[in-house]
Amino acid sequence: MNKISIVGAGMTGATTAHWLAERELANLVLVDVVEGMPQGKSLDMLQSMPVIGKDVSILGTNDYAATAGSDIIIITAGMPRKPGMSRDDLLTVNAEIVGKAAMETLKHSPDAIFIVLTNPLDTMAYLTLKKTGLPRERVIGQAGILDSARMRAFVSMETGVSVENINCYVLGGHGDEMVPLTRHSNIAGIPLRDYIPADKLEAIVARTRKGGGEIVNLLKTGSAYYAPAAACAQIAEAILKNKHLIVPCAAYMQGEYGLNDMYFGVPVMLGRSGLERIIEYEFDEAEKANFEKSAASVKETHDALRKLVEL
Ligand SMILES: NC(=O)c1ccc[n+]([C@@H]2O[C@H](COP(=O)([O-])OP(=O)(O)OC[C@H]3O[C@@H](n4cnc5c(N)ncnc54)[C@H](O)[C@@H]3O)[C@@H](O)[C@H]2O)c1
Repeated sequence: MNKISIVGAGMTGATTAHWLAERELANLVLVDVVEGMPQGKSLDMLQSMPVIGKDVSILGTNDYAATAGSDIIIITAGMPRKPGMSRDDLLTVNAEIVGKAAMETLKHSPDAIFIVLTNPLDTMAYLTLKKTGLPRERVIGQAGILDSARMRAFVSMETGVSVENINCYVLGGHGDEMVPLTRHSNIAGIPLRDYIPADKLEAIVARTRKGGGEIVNLLKTGSAYYAPAAACAQIAEAILKNKHLIVPCAAYMQGEYGLNDMYFGVPVMLGRSGLERIIEYEFDEAEKANFEKSAASVKETHDALRKLVEL
């Protein structure tokens, strides 16, 4: 059985474990700094396995030693947003938490592939890569699957078409400057622009960009977790099943799309070695401008990190 360790047993961490356990994909370890909480959640989840008929071990702990030999490490530890906060406001507090989580887990699982969820996402993935010194194939940031799923849900709500027929591609940084690609997105092969009136499509794009904030404002005490966790589980499954699945994820750029030494949301192929390749789309002028605006914003956060932490 494969082994996946999740650091941070809060809302996204525990929900990721839930989605993963349902898939019977791997034995699971949940690590958190809060005493008793990962143990309690894991025991509760473990006791649901007989009901759904899945043979998976789920262990909660405060000790990184229990993560030894993991195939995949998922980092969700850190503070979520509260109303009025941007993801970048979390940089200082989360950089320390993610840096420690990455190094502690690497010590016990030197061959693991890392999936990073903590915000500010692109910069926390960059921090994980730089701190661990791992090749880019083994450090993947989750953002684009979630942002694209939000857009797919909104398109389905607008059109009444099954989510299965709706393909959306949201690239760029995981912030309000993200880039929903309406030309590449489609309903059963029909470009969105030809299916949905322009004003309605514009509203969907705007709602997608603020999709995380909409939920933060409703919840008031934290941020989204069902869909982010489902996205993490999809990445883990694509890797462990060697699916060669193409999905948007944050990847370390080495010249692709004209970008270097930064994490950014692009279509990637995922398989057993992690990130197998980056797919490059052709952009028109407007798409290119949006992409560059989003890259500039992510670069700023990377610069702020470099001032904060020695990499
Ligand atoms: N990339 C995305 O798409 C996306 C989506 C949702 C949330 N997030 C981010 O994920 C992070 C977690 O969100 P959440 O809703 O699960 O928050 P949460 O507060 O529910 O859980 C975070 C957990 O991290 C734990 N933690 C803190 N410091 C730790 C440490 N040093 N070691 C181990 N655990 C530690 C906390 O005790 C807490 O249980 C946030 O930064 C949030 O912004 C990202």
